[in-house]
Amino acid sequence: MKDTGSFPDYHRLVEPTRVHSSLYTDPEIFQQELDRIWYRTWVYVGHVSEVPNRNDYVTKSIGPTPVLLVHDRKGEIRLLLNKCPHRGNQLCAYREGNRASFTCPYHSWTFSNTGELAGYAYADGYEGASKSDFSLGRVPRVAIYRGFVFGSFAEEGPSLEEHLGGAKASIDQLLDNSPEGELELTAGFLQHRTKANWKFMLENETDGYHPAFVHGSVFQVTDSGIGSLYGPDSTALTRDFGNGHTEFDLRPEWRRIGKPMNWFGTTTERLPEYVAAMEGAYGEERAREIMIDGTPHIMIFPNLFIAEIQLFTLQPISVDETIQHVTALGFKGAPDMNRRLRQQTMGSVGPAGLLLADDTEMYERNHRGASIRDPEWVTLTRGLHRERRDENGYLVAHSTDEVPQRGIWRHYQNLMTA
Ligand code: FES
Repeated sequence: MKDTGSFPDYHRLVEPTRVHSSLYTDPEIFQQELDRIWYRTWVYVGHVSEVPNRNDYVTKSIGPTPVLLVHDRKGEIRLLLNKCPHRGNQLCAYREGNRASFTCPYHSWTFSNTGELAGYAYADGYEGASKSDFSLGRVPRVAIYRGFVFGSFAEEGPSLEEHLGGAKASIDQLLDNSPEGELELTAGFLQHRTKANWKFMLENETDGYHPAFVHGSVFQVTDSGIGSLYGPDSTALTRDFGNGHTEFDLRPEWRRIGKPMNWFGTTTERLPEYVAAMEGAYGEERAREIMIDGTPHIMIFPNLFIAEIQLFTLQPISVDETIQHVTALGFKGAPDMNRRLRQQTMGSVGPAGLLLADDTEMYERNHRGASIRDPEWVTLTRGLHRERRDENGYLVAHSTDEVPQRGIWRHYQNLMTA
């Protein structure tokens, strides 16, 4: 690429059907992404079921920045920055807990879990100082959609619901699979540290072109019928919801097969308690429809991936390092289903799991490849000729087409040039 004197120029680096490799490898671009994406747009942080009681907290992140997701003493959900405003020490080193206040280990300043400074050690040294000058930093906008907690460092901007747009329907679809319409994330998180740029994961989560090859051995060993969902004859769709949110929609295939719980690789007979609870909650007909459709496979920009049975969050650490945090989904009122969700999650993305190891190998190879000088561009043309609008106006195409990747980069360019 020729130097135009205004590098990085995101109008030139992102084209409709190709992107420049430096977008994955340039540290300067990564720093700009923090300002223009991670510290500006809505970012998923955690779920209310992780902090069910007053004074519960979990440590989370927005990009590389650590935050505390707190259910405070007054009953509010807050996002506080995990940094002592005295001399900048990391305030809380635990992953989770229950406490009404946080005490900094360095000089023992204590903060209420609503963020205010409660007291100094040896207070006579602060004669005349105002405690209100030393509150914890906060994420200024916090919003919750059906239990999913998002934060934005921008004081103003689109509402969370505007940001989610069509992706809300996929979250609704997910929660329909709970007899009580709620999620419970109680299985704990695994962390996978990956030596690759975060956008390789963002793009791959709804890439239907790779599974038949990257995961072919897993499908073969487990004698799974999943492989055909990602083949040329599949009726599944890729979808671009706009705002960077993308989906791999398997419902056309599940509806064609027409068997409840087939999406989960099982039958209603093997989950009698769950099926009874679903029928009790929704009635036989609607429960059957829900259990045929199953759960969504959606990547909510920039960091929330709901993968049928798991939930991932992406945490970029640097231009070439990302942590994937993953947990099993759990549905309120569905203990037998939840046991299987945990088992399948361990089998696929646990420490000895088969699926994520394959993907991670690809992410790291992607990153190494992006550093090679020639060719400079990554091509995203697949299925361009067969893109169309669905009944809701969203772009869709065949399950193996690159509709999601083109949609992600369109949104990326909008954010980076805003
Ligand atoms: Fe926290 Fe001093 S750095 S009390």
